Amino acid sequence: MKSFITIYFFFLIFASCTIEVPPEVIAAQEELPEVIDFNYHVKPILSDRCYSCHGPDENSRKAGLRLDIESIAFSKLNSGKRAITPGTTYSSELAHRILSTDPAVIMPNPDSNLTLNSREKAILLKWIDQGAEWKDHWSFIPPKKKDLDSKAFPGLTNPIDQFVKLKLDEKGLGFSSPASKETLIRRITFDLTGLPPSLEEINSFVENPDENAYEKLIDRLLFHGCSRRKIDSGLDGSLSLCRLPWSSRRWSKNHVALARLGD
Ligand code: HEC
Repeated sequence: MKSFITIYFFFLIFASCTIEVPPEVIAAQEELPEVIDFNYHVKPILSDRCYSCHGPDENSRKAGLRLDIESIAFSKLNSGKRAITPGTTYSSELAHRILSTDPAVIMPNPDSNLTLNSREKAILLKWIDQGAEWKDHWSFIPPKKKDLDSKAFPGLTNPIDQFVKLKLDEKGLGFSSPASKETLIRRITFDLTGLPPSLEEINSFVENPDENAYEKLIDRLLFHGCSRRKIDSGLDGSLSLCRLPWSSRRWSKNHVALARLGD
């Protein structure tokens, strides 16, 4: 009888230290990526749904809580609670607030007309469970080269395709079949010159057996309308639009239009 009471007692303590997560949020949690990233997954939610009352604007800040500053988000608040306690949703007031169904407690506050969907709730909870790693603004984080095992991607030599494949796999999708040569030359010519290719250009590209024909086509289009020598000699300070190749004229057109608008 004594041991039964002890077990019951421990059960009570254990049960009272867990947070009740509704089934739709548990289901959403199963669909999430393995590692939740602060900048990529968490910050956009906080900034969209919480910063209006818990962000940089002092005048609209509520409860003295800032969710844009790590030290405050993790510290003990005036209420005696902590918004975020890394590793434990139970001790994170944020978790209780976003899961509450009581309009007087739930966050975002109902007056704001903001809400969180199950996936967003799941992201915040999983991030806290995983240790709530806070990160600097992405622009302050030095880029790190990510090495992919190219053997894991048979037939994909371009690393960009390998990264795309990883994401497609994650979403249960596959690559579209490669475009025909006619489509490729039409796309790239429009893209670089703003004009369609001529029939002769299409035929010569389609019939070209060279396996680097596409790369060579891009080089030709980039410098179309201008010889390499002319471009180099144009860089003496008298560079004018008519000396630029077509592709540069097309791309600089947008900048010129913006600059005019700015004026
Ligand atoms: C429109 C304003 C508003 C928005 C938006 C808002 N909150 Fe709040 N929040 C409040 C107010 C007001 C309080 C203080 C009253 C209370 O405790 O309910 C508060 C209190 C809190 C507390 C408790 C702080 C303490 O001292 O114990 C937490 C945690 C919290 N909010 C989290 C959030 C999160 C997370 C979001 C976004 C998902 C959010 N809030 C969005 C207005 C807002």
